[in-house]
Amino acid sequence: MCGIVGYIGDKQASDIIIKGLQRLEYRGYDSAGLALFNGKLEIKKGKGKVDNLRKLLKKEPVKGSVGIGHTRWATHGAPNDINSHPHTSESGKIALVHNGIIENYTSLKKELKNKGRTFHTDTDTEVIAQLIEEIYQDGQNVSFQKAVRLALKQIVGTYGLAIVHSETPDRIIIARKGSPLLLGLGDGEMFIASDASPIIEHTKKVVYLDDGEIAIVTKDGYEVKTIDDVSLTKEVHELAMSVEEIEKSGYPHFMLKEIFEQPNSIADCLRGRLDVKNHSIQLGGLVDVMDKLIGAKRLIIAACGTSWHAGLVGEYLFEHLSKIPVEVEYASEFRYREPLINEDDVMLVISQSGETADTLAAVREAKQRGATVLGICNVVGSTIARETDAGVYTHAGPEIGVASTKAFTAQVSVLAMMAIMIGQKKNTIDPEYAERLIEELDRIPGKVKQIVEQSDSIKRMAELFTYAPNFLYLGRTYNFPVALEGALKLKEISYIHAEGYPAAEMKHGPIALIDAMMPVVVIAATDHTNDKMISNIEEVKARKGRIISITGKENEEVIDLSEFSCPIPETEDCLSPLLTVIPLQLLSYYIAVNRGCNVDQPRNLAKSVTVE
Ligand code: F6R
Repeated sequence: MCGIVGYIGDKQASDIIIKGLQRLEYRGYDSAGLALFNGKLEIKKGKGKVDNLRKLLKKEPVKGSVGIGHTRWATHGAPNDINSHPHTSESGKIALVHNGIIENYTSLKKELKNKGRTFHTDTDTEVIAQLIEEIYQDGQNVSFQKAVRLALKQIVGTYGLAIVHSETPDRIIIARKGSPLLLGLGDGEMFIASDASPIIEHTKKVVYLDDGEIAIVTKDGYEVKTIDDVSLTKEVHELAMSVEEIEKSGYPHFMLKEIFEQPNSIADCLRGRLDVKNHSIQLGGLVDVMDKLIGAKRLIIAACGTSWHAGLVGEYLFEHLSKIPVEVEYASEFRYREPLINEDDVMLVISQSGETADTLAAVREAKQRGATVLGICNVVGSTIARETDAGVYTHAGPEIGVASTKAFTAQVSVLAMMAIMIGQKKNTIDPEYAERLIEELDRIPGKVKQIVEQSDSIKRMAELFTYAPNFLYLGRTYNFPVALEGALKLKEISYIHAEGYPAAEMKHGPIALIDAMMPVVVIAATDHTNDKMISNIEEVKARKGRIISITGKENEEVIDLSEFSCPIPETEDCLSPLLTVIPLQLLSYYIAVNRGCNVDQPRNLAKSVTVE
């Protein structure tokens, strides 16, 4: 949610910043801008994508080897030229870019106005620039750095900030509270970014800033301090990702690339963990908390969006295989009620980005209440990964498309491994069944490959349904969360209204929507609910609804009843979401493309939701 890039060195900062912002565009793409030192501070910014900024700079180039840039996801103030970042103080000497929300900006703005300051934007961010300047100009012997610290102490809310001052063109000050920021360490140059993707092609050495920390960055070094001016020594981390992983590699969209990557991303997730020969599973990140997990009286899973859907699959898995009672919570709801947490409860959060503000807040809330908190994250070194007590990385590789695809299948793979492993340790799973599941998990990447290879038939089917203004998705047991996920994928990238339901709930309301125009996507695994699902299909057909089924290729009855069917390889019921979700991802992708939607950057969305 908003992306920040900064550069200080000897090269042209604008090229590095623009390229970096393009890599961060998944975090927001309402407007973009940058501030560069060119003898004086120069700002270029405007509404629209980073490419507009690139074109503007082509027409009106600005030179300079120190700069900060921003791509915005609007919170306060419409996405227009004026509200674009960077924002400046009244004198124009201070410029800054901000990711986060300043909750007390109205009162601070009022105070600053009373002191005679004029505001030019509707943003909360402008207040920070004005406040720093007010303190800096006011104070006797207050250095700029100290003015920044004092201003941040008055701010309530969250921020990732990069700040420059025209009197100190040899440095950028950055600060973090609640919004990610990291520092890339080069040779005679330094990079600043919201995540590693803009940095990876320049350096692999990074320092993650933690909440309450400030860094003073020059081209030859950096100093990290607390907001109370205590110097800190930070660990330097080595990045493992490569540039190829964050490029489209010939695909028209990141989303399609990421759907097609799933045979590999699931295999990467399972690699080194699934021991098929010995029918065992090792999850190194959980070794220290294994006793806690085995003894858990309750597992609370908290997440948002697609990760929440993966959590729902987890509920079925843990209850079935490890016999642990599970509650799945929206992270945003969990944190705002009075959650009852006992000593024997374990909390598990799931987050692709590892930065989602509500999920992070749930982690902190649960920790404060004494719970052991585990994480399933994709982004290595992300805040949630660092703040949880233990966890498992999904190793799905960078997910750039705003609609989550390969992260979901990797999350479900981790949840399946966890549930089987705990079941084996607790003896709550029949050993032969566990062996079968482990062998089947190992076959899943190959089966996913068979499904993506059918993409042409899904593409043809999508053409026939592009007209539809509404869709209904129905599933039972393990595939009820998949119905929710299919509906979410369709609505977020094609702007078609879609709802997911447990199939049996249809007759309690949604059935009223069904007519000859309504496509109903039925996810019918060949399990003990198959007969009931067949009855539901008949109920839809009796009302002339159009059935699209995702079902095992041997489920002839369902296939015969469907107008269109996407047969998937047979698998164990509890692993079926890893297969059934793939055609739904492809269906939504092709429909969105047919409708001319911006698949990778759907309107109003951002990949990493770092505001609450
Ligand atoms: C949907 C989607 C979102 C995310 C949600 C949580 O395609 O991407 O619903 O799943 O914002 O994000 P993470 O997993 O990063 O916490």
